[in-house]
Amino acid sequence: MSRKGIILAGGSGTRLYPSTISVSKQLMPVYDKPMIYYPLSVLMGAGMREIMIITTPEDQAAFQNLLGTGKDWGIEITWAVQPSPDGLAQALIIAEDFLDGAPSALILGDNLFFGSEFDQTLQAAKDVTEGATVFGYHVNNPKDYGVAEFDADNKVISIEEKPDDPKSNYAVTGLYLYDGNAPAYAKTITPSARGELEITALNQIYLDRDELQCAMLGEGTSWLDTGTHRSLLQAAQFVSVMEERQGRRICCPEAAAYHQGWISREQLHALAAPLEKSGYGEYLFRISRPAE
Ligand code: DAU
Repeated sequence: MSRKGIILAGGSGTRLYPSTISVSKQLMPVYDKPMIYYPLSVLMGAGMREIMIITTPEDQAAFQNLLGTGKDWGIEITWAVQPSPDGLAQALIIAEDFLDGAPSALILGDNLFFGSEFDQTLQAAKDVTEGATVFGYHVNNPKDYGVAEFDADNKVISIEEKPDDPKSNYAVTGLYLYDGNAPAYAKTITPSARGELEITALNQIYLDRDELQCAMLGEGTSWLDTGTHRSLLQAAQFVSVMEERQGRRICCPEAAAYHQGWISREQLHALAAPLEKSGYGEYLFRISRPAE
């Protein structure tokens, strides 16, 4: 069974208030494109065409307005809502029927991953269909994240959610690969002290079963989250610097669809035409021409 993607794009976005009072955080721009394009391009780049997008009930129509059925991009989007932000692990329960026993890749709608090392690591990890894989990234502020601890053989021995006293500097990023058992395991989790079904609790179940891998993302990967005003600005600056330096746009779902061979040159041009004024469309035209 091929792996299906889930993007969790709900939550209250209170850390970005007042900007996110009337607009979903994951629809806000990160430089030149809406935030959700970034996780979507990760799943598409890894070859996933069946993708569930989970939003709040209020925001679903705006997301659908942007992305539709996914058909124009050669993918199939299934829409679902999370009635209230009861925790990341709830995404697996919401997605149970959609997954129908298939392995999954859950990605948070506010996480930005970039780099050829990342692409290769994800490509290799995604073919392992038993157990779970999380991705570790060295950060300065581990207290803000799930944190993994390793033994001498680089095997994960603990994962703690936002610990006061982190056992390493390795954050667990917002991308999780699970086998077909994840929805059933998620249903056994009880809410944490902050009232959420924690993703760390689901990962702990895999760890207890000795079925949790941690793939390390090193210097060849950029991982940014966009949850605060400061980190959102930094992410936008990062994208702007990369794109201006290289003359290439990063994390464009249309480009991923074209490179995967899911849409033709003509279909790409049809997507590009209405976007020409912003420069985004001009880029899409450019990638369909031979390299200069
Ligand atoms: O970014 C990676 C981190 O994401 C991990 O290291 C942590 O282990 C994990 O718990 C998570 O931490 P955050 O503090 O970033 O989680 P937050 O509550 O901000 O939610 C992350 C995104 O998911 C955010 O865009 C809102 C959305 N969300 C959140 C919750 C709790 C939902 O869609 N539904 C929810 O129920």
